[in-house]
Amino acid sequence: MAYETIIVETRRHVGLITLNRPKALNALCAQLVAELGQALDAFEADDEIGAIVLTGSEKAFAAGADIKEMAGKSFMDAYLADFITDGWERITTCRKPVIAAVAGFALGGGCEVAMMCDFILAADNAKFGQPEITLGIIPGAGGTQRLTRAVGKAKAMEMVLTGRMIDAAEAERAGLVSRVVPLAELVEEAVKVAEKIAGLSRPVVLMAKEAVNAAFETSLSQGIRFERRLFHATFATEDQKEGMAAFIEKRSPTFRNR
Ligand code: CAA
Repeated sequence: MAYETIIVETRRHVGLITLNRPKALNALCAQLVAELGQALDAFEADDEIGAIVLTGSEKAFAAGADIKEMAGKSFMDAYLADFITDGWERITTCRKPVIAAVAGFALGGGCEVAMMCDFILAADNAKFGQPEITLGIIPGAGGTQRLTRAVGKAKAMEMVLTGRMIDAAEAERAGLVSRVVPLAELVEEAVKVAEKIAGLSRPVVLMAKEAVNAAFETSLSQGIRFERRLFHATFATEDQKEGMAAFIEKRSPTFRNR
């Protein structure tokens, strides 16, 4: 598949997608969103791939939805096309883990795309923000919801109402990112983490992801019941037998992924 706005590579069992519109700081135009969806579809269908890393450039993960593309839209254009939902949420339906490796600006839709991933590894130069209010709009790809769940009402409200950016250290303190790493190590570190995940039991990884995601969709008691059912299901896998046998025999497990 020939892509124009992203670069797609495979690193052992990891799919690496690099947003690649450097002149527009990786602004998320319709073509980029469509290509990102196609790349995710391909990695999702590829049995050799166990996890996916999504990254941008050193200057920008993505500076938001493409302002030049959307500036002339009318309400009817946006409403009838269900603008933003259309295509953007593909990351959230990906069953394999997706790690966002964020350097530079992750603003507006860029911050929202990073938050759609399962977790964010940030470079020390990363900057997160929802500056939509300064353009006369509000976040439209989940920013008011996912940011609020990640950092709490006070910080989310300040960021959404003022457009204030937070740096990597503040993002880590607030729980928006899992870790901050030096810029030069970001992509390699993210690929290393993804390789670790890809080497584990595929079905059990999918169950673990599904269980954590349930925490955002259900009540505590329903979530715990869901977790318990999946926990029980892990005992039906060969990988549970192998993982526990390997521990007892003091050797590394070899997961068969089925
Ligand atoms: N859309 C389209 N083009 C963009 C863009 C965007 N979101 N962000 C940057 N660019 C373009 C600029 O227009 C510029 O292009 P030209 O050279 O052709 O003028 C190029 O990228 C470089 O940008 P700057 O010259 O502005 O670079 P800078 O280093 O001075 O500033 C920045 C960097 C602070 C990120 C600044 O570019 C900026 O504020 N960008 C817009 C951020 C923003 O408002 N994002 C939210 C978009 S709305 C949204 O995302 C809605 C939603 O919820 C989905």
